[in-house]
Amino acid sequence: MTARDSVHAELRLRDQRGRVLHDLRISVMDRCNFRCPYCMPRETFHDGYRFLGSHERLSFDEIVRLARLMVRLGVRKLRLTGGEPLLRPNLTDLIGDLTAIDGVEDVALTTNGTLLAKHAFELRAAGLHRVTVSLDSLDPEVFQRMSGGFGGLEEALGGIEQARRAGLGPIKVNVVVQRGLNDHTVVQLLERFRGTGVIVRFIEYMDVGNRNHWRSDAVVHSSELLARIARHWPLEPLQPSYRGEVAERYAFTDGGGEVGFISSITQPFCGDCSRARLSSDGVLYTCLFATHGVALRDKLRSGASDDSLLDLLRATWRARSDNYSEQRRTRLADAAGERKVEMFYIGG
Ligand code: GTP
Ligand code: 5AD
Ligand code: SF4
Ligand code: SF4
Repeated sequence: MTARDSVHAELRLRDQRGRVLHDLRISVMDRCNFRCPYCMPRETFHDGYRFLGSHERLSFDEIVRLARLMVRLGVRKLRLTGGEPLLRPNLTDLIGDLTAIDGVEDVALTTNGTLLAKHAFELRAAGLHRVTVSLDSLDPEVFQRMSGGFGGLEEALGGIEQARRAGLGPIKVNVVVQRGLNDHTVVQLLERFRGTGVIVRFIEYMDVGNRNHWRSDAVVHSSELLARIARHWPLEPLQPSYRGEVAERYAFTDGGGEVGFISSITQPFCGDCSRARLSSDGVLYTCLFATHGVALRDKLRSGASDDSLLDLLRATWRARSDNYSEQRRTRLADAAGERKVEMFYIGG
């Protein structure tokens, strides 16, 4: 069997709900230079918080090895996340190795943008395809509050501009919308980015992790936002650009580009979920809301063969039946004692 035949054979790998494995999201750094209250609230992630030591994080070689194996099982798309991935020293070396893997079609990076201006050109030169920047508001006071008080708005905007110059597009801007916090600033974001090629996507605030004191009344339903935006600029729905796309896309009918809505609360998209997630210390999770994962680091470090790792990865995907967002209502009621994985650690 040739390498390509074996890729095709493995492509048929499906989970308990018939879903294929297509994306691997890799958290390369559990630290972040922001303290967004919905992700890393300051009261928990203070100066004394114990983040991973550098030896506890997977090395680049370990990440590349796992990525290669996952590609053999069907992964085509890689996304690097954090925490803040650009805090990981020499990240471009990793990107160079990942983009060189045969079979990988898309390599993207999710960042808060503050270090992007500095790195955009070298990221592009290393082969990175595109970036997504998390940016919740252009109002300096709101931005300050939602990023934990460290500033960085101008840096993030400069990062987006530099990424555009470097050719890291289509650039997307992810906006977590919370009622009473930044929902009054969404139109301002669109005013700024409409017509620039940058795609703004509004995310319903989710109950990820255990520490963000999530409340359903803080969620702004995408339908409400859509109606509000359509009063300013008429919109028409667009087809998904690929199967299982998380965002629902709309075009501005005046040619101003597109806007997306990620509605995990009101319109869960578990049915097509093809994403696996690797934490920075090498635990593989098959859901953003998982309570348990498969620890791979010690196996990598104690000489596990490719075949035994492939068996484990394959079995993990086959056994998967996660659909947390679809079951959210009942799960919230009965999951009181369970610890979900944290967003900063698994990378969104
Ligand atoms: P594209 O490849 O550009 O379409 O990006 P993406 O939507 O795959 O990735 P991105 O990191 O931009 O995801 C945006 C946000 O959607 C994440 O930060 C999460 O908040 C949310 N999200 C992504 N994947 C999932 C998922 O599997 N489940 C849930 N509930 N939310 C998700
Ligand atoms: N709800 C929705 N999105 C979140 N993110 C982080 N925490 C949450 C949450 N509680 C988003 C960030 C970023 C990505 C990594 O995840 O804004 O875009
Ligand atoms: Fe950092 Fe992103 Fe979490 Fe904010 S949402 S604390 S920028 S990892
Ligand atoms: Fe996938 Fe879990 Fe998100 Fe559903 S809740 S889309 S299964 S990651």
